Amino acid sequence: MAGPLARKFAEKFNEEIRFFKGWIDGPKAVGAILPTSSITARRMASVIDTTSKLPVLELGPGTGVITKAILQHGVKPQDLYCVEYSEDFAKHLRINYPDVNIIQGDAFDLDTTLGDNKDMLFDSVVSAVPLLNFPVPARVQIIEDLLRRVPAGRPVIQITYGPLAPVPAGKGNYVVKHYDFVMRNVPPAQLWVYRSPLS
Ligand SMILES: C[S@@+](CC[C@H](N)C(=O)[O-])C[C@H]1O[C@@H](n2cnc3c(N)ncnc32)[C@H](O)[C@@H]1O
Repeated sequence: MAGPLARKFAEKFNEEIRFFKGWIDGPKAVGAILPTSSITARRMASVIDTTSKLPVLELGPGTGVITKAILQHGVKPQDLYCVEYSEDFAKHLRINYPDVNIIQGDAFDLDTTLGDNKDMLFDSVVSAVPLLNFPVPARVQIIEDLLRRVPAGRPVIQITYGPLAPVPAGKGNYVVKHYDFVMRNVPPAQLWVYRSPLS
């Protein structure tokens, strides 16, 4: 009979297969071959202030590695809103995280995607949307849009795999800071934090 370690391994393997299948179906939309490592996911979740009493927005949850880290960080499932473009990932997330608000839709059109919640203020945004696959003006527009959905000074954290900030400084109304470089990720990940400029 399989022990807990074997079960955990099988679950992780299933998740990686599901992710890889997503990559085969839409490499540009998925943007990575393997899910984010739990170390990277925890680093991303660490920017969330759980005392703010505000909900959290996650973009591009995929199979839910970062979703899990956000919940483990102390966010209540009902306070987490996840926007996922792929219907298959969204369906899978609804099964694994039945109390989280899983919304199937486009992170680049949040007014439509969030529907009745389009004016909701979030504590912070945790994003794994593959920004490098979109043109720079669309990247600038999404960062500015996200910063309007968090209080001044609160972060939008973005994962990427290139050496440079995915949305370069000086192109719009935001400041960008390198947050971390995580070697234990395939491929190694760069984390960037965007905030509104101090007024
Ligand atoms: C690099 S994967 C990250 C998945 C997962 N968060 C992880 O870290 O392993 C990018 C995810 O963003 C989703 N995605 C791509 N374009 C999107 C969009 N316009 N709106 C919402 N999600 C999108 C993909 O379907 C995929 O799940």
